[in-house]
Amino acid sequence: MQDSSQDSTQDTDGFITPQEYGANLYENPRGIGCVKCHGKDGEETLLASYVHKGKQRHIIVPRINNLAFETFKVALSKDSGVMPKYNLTDEEINAIYLYITSRNKTFR
Ligand code: HEC
Repeated sequence: MQDSSQDSTQDTDGFITPQEYGANLYENPRGIGCVKCHGKDGEETLLASYVHKGKQRHIIVPRINNLAFETFKVALSKDSGVMPKYNLTDEEINAIYLYITSRNKTFR
């Protein structure tokens, strides 16, 4: 009698990988997607330009696909200017980090 079919060591069947989970979060974490400001690949982008007190101002969204994990995590835990504070769990931060660093094509 042989029944090895039930004994697969591939345990990811039917589940999404952590990276796919991160992609989902990145696109829609609690309704406000990182992707809206940071773009699909987390490259630097210009979010808005406006004139304030006669001076041209720019809101630059920094590149986030090449950060050290600590930098990434700290940035998500503090209240900064433009970016909303998400109160993500460690698991969520890990997954998003995994996803966005995988979008780094240049390794700079
Ligand atoms: C409303 C636009 C917006 C959204 C949405 C947003 N960000 Fe940001 N993010 C920014 C801006 C602008 C900065 C630059 C710092 C600042 O002004 O807050 C920034 C900074 C960061 C930084 C720090 C970069 C550095 O060099 O220190 C990280 C990491 C980051 N964002 C990740 C994320 C992730 C992950 C999400 C989704 C959970 C997200 N952001 C959603 C606009 C946004």
